[in-house]
Amino acid sequence: MEKIIIDGGVALDGKVEISGMKNAAVAVLFATIAVNDVCVIENLPQISDVKLSLEILRSVGARTHITGKNAVEIDTRSVKNTVVPFELARKMRASYYLVGASLARFGSAKVGLPGGCDFGSRPIDQHVKAFEALGANVTVGGGCLDACTFGGVRPANIFFDCVTVGATINTIIASVLADGMTVIENAAKEPHIVDLANFLNYCGANITGAGTDVIKIKGVERLHGCNYAIIPDMIEAGTFMAAAAATGGRLYISNVIPKHLEAISAKIGEMGAEIEEYDDAVMITRRGKLLRSNVKTLPYPGFPTDMNPQIAVLMALADGVSQISETIWDGRFRYVEELRRMGARIKVDGKLAVIEGGYPLTHANVRAVDLRAGAAMIIAGLACDGRTEIDEVHYIERGYDNIVSKLRSVGARIKKINIPDDDDRALTV
Ligand code: EPU
Repeated sequence: MEKIIIDGGVALDGKVEISGMKNAAVAVLFATIAVNDVCVIENLPQISDVKLSLEILRSVGARTHITGKNAVEIDTRSVKNTVVPFELARKMRASYYLVGASLARFGSAKVGLPGGCDFGSRPIDQHVKAFEALGANVTVGGGCLDACTFGGVRPANIFFDCVTVGATINTIIASVLADGMTVIENAAKEPHIVDLANFLNYCGANITGAGTDVIKIKGVERLHGCNYAIIPDMIEAGTFMAAAAATGGRLYISNVIPKHLEAISAKIGEMGAEIEEYDDAVMITRRGKLLRSNVKTLPYPGFPTDMNPQIAVLMALADGVSQISETIWDGRFRYVEELRRMGARIKVDGKLAVIEGGYPLTHANVRAVDLRAGAAMIIAGLACDGRTEIDEVHYIERGYDNIVSKLRSVGARIKKINIPDDDDRALTV
């Protein structure tokens, strides 16, 4: 069993470089199936979700070759089908992009139903609606999603019932080779959607409007390989910003796109940190007290749900009552019980959390109940005196590239340890 151990109470100070964005990387990696050629993808974060994506690509016959620390060459010409076993698919959310990619290239797909972090119900009805509109016969059962067209994907007009990142991405990928124009309305506008569209356009696709709520995909006959670098991860950057603010520190955070951070910068700034923006970096300093605030999570460009747990830590440290209204995930507040172990006073009523801040957080043994919850535990551990131990580190490693060494380089006393299984048993008897 692996644990992260933090001896907190040190203000972070120094420079940290942000890695490529997880949620863009996984979309682009699976989209290479539709490309049917050789692509070189750069600025990939070293995280377990990327390793798993490459494993899934290899399992369907793609050839992968690591060409640098953060680059991989992917040859999908040898892929013959994309039947992805349930056991592999369920380990991550984005495996369902293989359905879109496979429909585009082969006209059919059979993929194990996706897993990912547990936020309560994570429906896929909008994906199914889009695949059906694109001419597929879709059945869900036996742990699998089976989609089959007769003669390939046909173009369609699709209006999503809710703003969904995953279904927007899947529909773009699925329709990229259709014979005609597909229009997505009420599309998600997240930067990773723009990144995916840019990648496919580099490969010869004709996609316009990505980043707005109407996206048009004019099908092309074929795609070709390209070299493409993934955009920086705005949630990783936001997490470091929250860590700097929580510890009363100062961080120069490079390899970011400041525009993507606007909602996060505005909120953390409002809570008392000073933020300076440069072309591809931000500097964050927190000298005075943290101030209470309220936040509502929203699709981009609103405040991201994937920063909900991290901002909660800042609110627990700020004097006064703050509120977080979560509008995306029913089960987002699972981290609250862990933060309470550290002394945070938080009441949750459905999708609203009320945080009575200003009481000192205390070190404790806690769990990373999901990826961003784990990030919040790290921030809380850095901000309080004494030793915090965090279990279930594998969740954190799904989406944060070398977080322990990056934090150590800016002064944190943090390490990862491996406890042999025998010791685990000894502890539990
Ligand atoms: N929804 C439906 N039906 C669908 C799809 C979504 O009702 O068919 C609802 C969801 O229940 C949710 C909302 O729409 O209430 C948004 O879901 P979305 O499809 O946008 O989420 P996702 O694609 O499953 C991605 C990220 C998540 C991030 C959300 C929201 C990936 C691989 N995952 O999930 O990232 O929380 O968008 O921004 O891109 C993370 O990185 O920690 C993470 C969980």
